[in-house]
Formats: sequence, C-alpha cells, structure tokens
Amino acid sequence: MTPPPPTATTVTASALSPTATPGEQATTYGPLTIRYDATVLRPREWTVAQGAWAQRLLPYLPDGPVLELCTGAGHIGLLAVHGSGRRLVAVDVSADAVRWTRRNAAANGVDAEVREAPLSVALAPGERFPLVVADPPWVPRAEVGAHPDDPLLAIDGGDDGLDVARECIAIAGDHLLPDGVLLVQVGTEQQVAHLRPAADAAGFTELGRYVRPGRGVVLGLVRAGTARR
Ligand SMILES: C[S@@+](CC[C@H](N)C(=O)[O-])C[C@H]1O[C@@H](n2cnc3c(N)ncnc32)[C@H](O)[C@@H]1O
Repeated sequence: MTPPPPTATTVTASALSPTATPGEQATTYGPLTIRYDATVLRPREWTVAQGAWAQRLLPYLPDGPVLELCTGAGHIGLLAVHGSGRRLVAVDVSADAVRWTRRNAAANGVDAEVREAPLSVALAPGERFPLVVADPPWVPRAEVGAHPDDPLLAIDGGDDGLDVARECIAIAGDHLLPDGVLLVQVGTEQQVAHLRPAADAAGFTELGRYVRPGRGVVLGLVRAGTARR
C-alpha cells in the first residue's frame, strides 16, 4: 500500500487571538489549525503524511476509536480521525502535551479522550483499537544535543533511539483488533530494520512504509488474525 503524499501545509507566524498565551504559536496542518508552544515538539510539516495515511486506511478498518501514542500537540491523531466521526484516544506522559491536545481537539471539532500517563499504564487490558498511530521519541541519546530547541522528553529515544518505539509496537500488539494497523514513526530506514525483532515478536508484518529522506519514516504494520489476550 502506498501512503499518500502529504497535503499542503504552511507554518504561519501566529496570528493569534487576544487570549493567546505568551509563546503560543499556530500552524495549519492539513485542514486543521494546531496551536502549541515550546513545551511540546513543534508540529513538523512532513508528518501530515502519517495522519493522511491513517485517514485513508480508516474506511477499510473495523469500527472503533483510534489510539494515538505519544501525541504531543495532538496533530497526527487529530488529522487521522478528522471527518471520520471516530473518537481519538490520545496518550502522552507530558501534562503540557495533554493540555495542547485537548485544546486542539476542541478547536478542531474532534471528539478526543486525552490521557496523561506513561504508555506502560495508559490502557486497560481489554481495550482494543482498529488503528494505532505512534510518534515516539526516536533520536539516539548521544545525538539529542543537536536539537537544543526540542523538549528532551519528546526526542530522547534511548541508546539506539528506539526504546519507546519498541514499547509502542508491543502495546499495539496487545491492543489492536484483528486485522488492525499500526503506523509508527521513526527517524531512518536503518531504525526500521532494527525494529524488526520487536515487530516479529508482536506478530506484525509490514504493510508499507512512507520515507521522507532526512526527515523520518512512517512504518505501517499489520497483524492479521486473532487479537492476542
Ligand atoms: C516525538 S514527540 C511526538 C509529538 C507529536 N506527535 C509530534 O509530531 O510533534 C514524542 C512525544 O512522546 C511523549 N513521550 C515520551 N515518552 C513517553 C512515554 N513513556 N509515555 C508517554 N508519552 C511519552 C513526549 O512527551 C512527546 O510528546
């Protein structure tokens, strides 16, 4: 399956309302307007491709809410469900990320339940989803100094950059419905290769990948058959 190209996205200087908080910025993100500040990762234009891929998949997937892991300001998950009538369940350990996602969901008319929690405790055992989107931190720890403007929590992925990505794959393995899909973002195709054991362990096969050279990769994984647990 070939992911769609990203739709046009323009980062704007903030033309904000009088109620805007200091440091607040706004960006258009596909059809959405997303607000954020320096406490969360600035929405990256190319990631519209991840939300748009999710949007395209949803009509072919079972009913139910979409799960977003590591939501940040919420834009990828909000774009995924926008216009679908589906609810977004979004998770982030950062209180700032949760605050921005709640605000962006309300402003864009999306039904969202936003949970402030580490991934490890964010879901009840019986929860199941047709689609999981994830944008974990994926910068190797030794390289985080190259991104001084980004919140450390948003980019530090541990020694090989994949600690949280592996956790996302394991969680998706436990919480996807049969034939459900995971779209997980990492930095490089080499990192995709390093995720192979985790994907195999969770019973996933590759659906496809969207590569934006020098920016990142979205890996699509599908697990056919009966949901585990
Ligand atoms: C790379 S940012 C992605 C944010 C957003 N999706 C974007 O495109 O800007 C990763 C996010 O994961 C969150 N995060 C990091 N470790 C986490 C954990 N163990 N549990 C939940 N959220 C976590 C961070 O707070 C951050 O908002």
